[in-house]
Amino acid sequence: SATQDLQGLTVAITAGPTREAIDPVRYISNHSSGKMGFAIAEAFAKRGATVTLISGPVNLSTPNNVERVDVISAQEMAQQAVRFAQQSAIFIGCAAVADYRVEKIAEQKIKKTADNAHLTLKLVKNPDIIATVSNLTENRPFTVGFAAETENVAAYAKSKLQRKNLDLICANDVSEGQVFGSEQNSLQLFWQNGEKILPLTDKSQLATHLVNEIIDLYEKVQ
Ligand code: PMT
Repeated sequence: SATQDLQGLTVAITAGPTREAIDPVRYISNHSSGKMGFAIAEAFAKRGATVTLISGPVNLSTPNNVERVDVISAQEMAQQAVRFAQQSAIFIGCAAVADYRVEKIAEQKIKKTADNAHLTLKLVKNPDIIATVSNLTENRPFTVGFAAETENVAAYAKSKLQRKNLDLICANDVSEGQVFGSEQNSLQLFWQNGEKILPLTDKSQLATHLVNEIIDLYEKVQ
């Protein structure tokens, strides 16, 4: 077992998808399995950190010594994430948060009728959780984001690093359908004064490497 060198360090991590209800039986979501975020939570906990894992709906068991908070929608995730972020030294946004939700959830199941060949759903923007956290004026944690991109990976990730005011961004190329739900991943890390590639490996192995990088950068700003 790893050394307990991160005892006393508080970390909040979001993982998995969010689900945005359309009506009582339907929702909008994405293919995130939660594996990447859960692996990061496990890697921090193995080193003795105090970890809160804010999870969307996933089929994964909670890693040992991790406090798990289950949420469904982006608005619920935002509420819990901001709450725990303010009590944490490090915040990591690994969740695939739905950018939009249905403006008005139908109270009853939406029926199809003979004459409605088309159905229009009106969507509104969800809160940007990680931007809210990184712009906290009090108790702002060291903030690590992810970027799931299908093209221009480095350029889009660097622009998210700036726009969302992050300390570090971890970009993954999701164009081939390889990352969401799979056992392996690779990451391109970008921060203000540097970048680094973490090559393809199991998400659990990748997470231990990522934790090393986060701790290195975090300790530099302490
Ligand atoms: O769960 P797995 O199957 O293991 O897959 C892992 C993963 C692909 C989901 C993960 O590695 C990953 O890339 N997570 C981020 C997915 C995402 O939504 O990326 P994005 O580029 O759309 O968002 C950028 C950042 O903003 C992310 O840190 C995201 O959590 C955050 N965000 C986005 C929208 C929003 N409303 N609030 C946010 O906080």
